[in-house]
Order: sequence, then C-alpha cells, then structure tokens
Amino acid sequence: MGETAPKSSVPAQGAAPAAEQTSPTAGQTAPVAEQTPSGREPLLEVDNVTLRFGGVVALDGVDFTLYKGEILGLIGPNGAGKTTCFNAMTGIYQPTEGEIRFQGQRITGKKRHQITKLGMARTFQNIRLFPEMTALENVQVGADAHHKTSVISALFRLPRHWREEREGREKAERLLEFVGIRDRIHEYARNLSYGEQRRLEIARALATDPALLCLDEPAAGFNPAEKEDLLQLIRRIRDTGVTILLIEHDMRLVMGVTDRIVVLEFGKKIAEGLPAEVREDHRVIAAYLGVPDDAA
Ligand SMILES: Nc1ncnc2c1ncn2[C@@H]1O[C@H](COP(=O)(O)OP(=O)(O)OP(=O)(O)O)[C@@H](O)[C@H]1O
Ligand SMILES: [Mg+2]
Repeated sequence: MGETAPKSSVPAQGAAPAAEQTSPTAGQTAPVAEQTPSGREPLLEVDNVTLRFGGVVALDGVDFTLYKGEILGLIGPNGAGKTTCFNAMTGIYQPTEGEIRFQGQRITGKKRHQITKLGMARTFQNIRLFPEMTALENVQVGADAHHKTSVISALFRLPRHWREEREGREKAERLLEFVGIRDRIHEYARNLSYGEQRRLEIARALATDPALLCLDEPAAGFNPAEKEDLLQLIRRIRDTGVTILLIEHDMRLVMGVTDRIVVLEFGKKIAEGLPAEVREDHRVIAAYLGVPDDAA
C-alpha cells in the first residue's frame, strides 16, 4: 500500500451498486460516466487539493478517488482536515489549489446549491436541523430542492404545485420510515433524541436524491447498540445505489462498514487502501497513537 491506491484495491465487500433494490428516494437517475480500464467508475475525484486558512494548511495536496457504489472511509486524528475536505467538496470553501470533479464535471468554484443539485448531499459534524420544524418538515426542506414548480404556479396553487406537494410529503414519509423514525414524523426536531436527530439529518440529505452521501461523524455520541444500527443503515443506503463517504472516529464501525479507507494527518494523505491494510499501516498507527513514525 502506498500513497496511491493499487488497482487491486477495488471495493471488496460486495460494493457493486445494487440497482435492482428499491431506492428510498424517487426519481434518482444513474449518471452515465466513463468506465476506468479496471472497470470502476469514478464518482468523485479530489485532485491535488490544497486549502489554506491564513497560515494553517488544512489540506495539503490531497488526492483520492471515490468510485461509484463504494463506501469510502475518511479518517485521521482531530484537526487532520476531514471536515475541511467535505467543506471543499460541497462548496462551503474553495480550494486554494487543485480541483474537485464530480460525475466527471469540475465542481470547484460552484455554489453549494449547485453541488446539491448535481447529486452530492451531506450531514454535519454538529447537527444542523431546523429545531422549530417537525421531522417531516425538515425532510421536506431537502426534497424542495428538487421541486420544479415555479413561484407563479405555487402562488396560484396550480395542479402541478399540489401534485409536487403531495409527492414531496409521501417521499418524506418514506425516508423517515427508511431511517427508522416514522413514528416521530410530527415531532419538533428539537424534541427528538440525539440519535433520532442524526437519523433525521440523514433522511433530509437523502431527500435531495444524492448520488453521493457524505456523513461527517454520524455516530458521534452513540452507544454501541446505536452504532450497530447506524452501520446497518449505512449499508442499506449503499444497497439502494448511493455511494458513501464516511468520516468516523470509531474504528470498529469504520473497519466494519467501509470498502476502502483514506487516512489524513495534518492535511496530508498518509495512507489509502483496504481496511485490513490501513489497520496495519505503521504511519496510521503512529498518527493515532501520537508517536513518531519510526517508533510505531
Ligand atoms: N474556518 C476555519 N478557519 C481557520 N482554520 C480552520 C477553519 N476550519 C478548519 N480549520 C483548521 O483546519 C484544520 C483542519 O480542521 P478540520 O475541522 O477539517 O479537522 P477534522 O479532521 O475534521 O478534525 P475533527 O476530527 O476534530 O473533526 C484544523 O487545524 C482547523 O483548526
Ligand atoms: Mg471534523
């Protein structure tokens, strides 16, 4: 294993998208992209991305590719640049150097809502919901990003507007069912338990019909049983054809659910490979134990 992933590090655990399974989201269209010679279809390409905040180099020449249908883990110690990487991908920050491509299209410089429309959704390390809205309304906000009705048709309550309203509501209900909180549908987000809020965030992200779902520490603060449930949920999401990029500190969860892992430390990629390879990598062990490389 080296700085670049060997061609053999294909998703090893049945990572092919299961197109025949029913998607929890409606109207998802599979992107048509070039196949690589190895048969893997790139979905997201992070190409030599550097991002500086004043003197802080949060990302330093980071390179990795996420292939369609896989679950890729993005790990590293606190401050390694994981969330910054999500922020660069989703248009919150612009890279100082390098570029990011999604479904073959350059997305560096695009706005957040444009990137959402292209099919990238995320959850946040610190949960961001509308606390005074119900679970249903929070998910509908996500679905609204895809409504085609114009302001005019909404104002004049044209049939298309009503149809989209109804479809949006049904879709939100399906998503709440899918993430396991259907019974909390009319509860204010602020009254949901921490675990329910994390699930609601995932449902809201799925409502935008993403091809790629980016999860930033979705299991933070969970007990072991909740982590196991989340692991199952992540697998089910992938089985509907959604590719997943997962930031997570819990090594058991990461090793149990990902097909491949990219490791960052101080903004640099220090390892990439299969979970079993990464677990044995002396640079990764050193990064996590905080000991010098040669002492690990
Ligand atoms: N908006 C910002 N302004 C200045 N520095 C920032 C900003 N955002 C992140 N950083 C810095 O960039 C570096 C990477 O931070 P980032 O939040 O990406 O780390 P992380 O890997 O997500 O860590 P954690 O596991 O603690 O969430 C840190 O040194 C952080 O202080
Ligand atoms: Mg973070």
